[in-house]
Amino acid sequence: MKRALAEEKKDRYILGIETSCDETAAAVLKNGTELLSQVIASQIDTHQRYGGVVPEIASREHAVHFAPVVEEAMRRARLSFPQLSAVAVTYGPGLVGSLLVGVAGAKAIAYAAKVPLIGVHHLEGHIYANFLRRSDVAFPFLALLVSGGHTHLLLFEAHGRYHILGRTRDDAAGEAFDKISRTLGLGYPGGPGIEKAALTGKDTAFAFPRAMLEAGSLDFSFSGLKSAVLNTCNTAAMKGESLNTPDLAASFQQAVIDVLVRKSVLALKRTQAQTLLLAGGVAANQALRSQLARAMAALGVEFVCPEPALCTDNAAMIAVAGYYHYLAGDFAPWTLNAVPGLVLSQPCSV
Ligand code: KG4
Ligand code: ZN
Repeated sequence: MKRALAEEKKDRYILGIETSCDETAAAVLKNGTELLSQVIASQIDTHQRYGGVVPEIASREHAVHFAPVVEEAMRRARLSFPQLSAVAVTYGPGLVGSLLVGVAGAKAIAYAAKVPLIGVHHLEGHIYANFLRRSDVAFPFLALLVSGGHTHLLLFEAHGRYHILGRTRDDAAGEAFDKISRTLGLGYPGGPGIEKAALTGKDTAFAFPRAMLEAGSLDFSFSGLKSAVLNTCNTAAMKGESLNTPDLAASFQQAVIDVLVRKSVLALKRTQAQTLLLAGGVAANQALRSQLARAMAALGVEFVCPEPALCTDNAAMIAVAGYYHYLAGDFAPWTLNAVPGLVLSQPCSV
């Protein structure tokens, strides 16, 4: 729903709300770049014992933490609800029960405060985390989105106008980190555990595959890599051999990074984009960040990534994306609902 802004307020305050998976998060953003508060209640400890997120438990936890988290974010921002310009909330993709808590809560706040409601796509939020520090990023830009559920290469032509150039055909990059971490006993979520173990490992110890798919493809596939690591571990176990965990972690991590870097370079050479934005939970990985930075410097392309804490799920990124919807007068109806399978846009070829 588009409508002209009723009044021009000098300062714009957006309350962002994120509950799509296992973090209950709220943040208040001033004028698109000034983060006044950020509060996150993480459920990682609760889900860790199950080795992954249990949806039913996640939605119950969101219901418990939602009001205190939002109230704390508002208190730290020193604002009352009617002072907000809008409430922005993730409405998909994600776990339906988790999303519903955020959407229902955001609607109640926006309605009571008489301010507009804004629906934000979770993946768009990840990408817009970059605009918190760099609101001057020039279009067109390429975005490499690597999260627990998605791996996408996107070309952004303008705010809200983007095309998918490539996507994973099976596992997402983060999903592969989580599965291999479980096999190696490195905990949940898997990324941080693998990254830490990899620091003392040799990334050439195991020759794991780099799936580039058919010539020129910008799609990804990580299931072959995942099977190769699992087969290596199982074969060693059957022979009674023990393998070096840091070497396995480093070799696996490097195989993922090689593919992400090569595909990003390929996509940049095929578009007019002069900037690469990195986003999503896997973007917190320092090895990925530094190797992409090196590859972009060699190409003469600008490389932008959010600070690590803003790579994994948070509400600041939802508030930033919400701010740009606000400027465009792009508000949601009161009938906004959670859409667990919300898609980005249709693939296109360049
Ligand atoms: O974006 P995100 O927080 O949630 C989704 O929207 O999916 O991403 C979570 C994913 C998990 O798979 C986690 O293992 C991965 O991001 N991750 C990392 C790191 N930190 C989190 N992967 C690699 N290295 C990290 N340091
Ligand atoms: Zn996410």
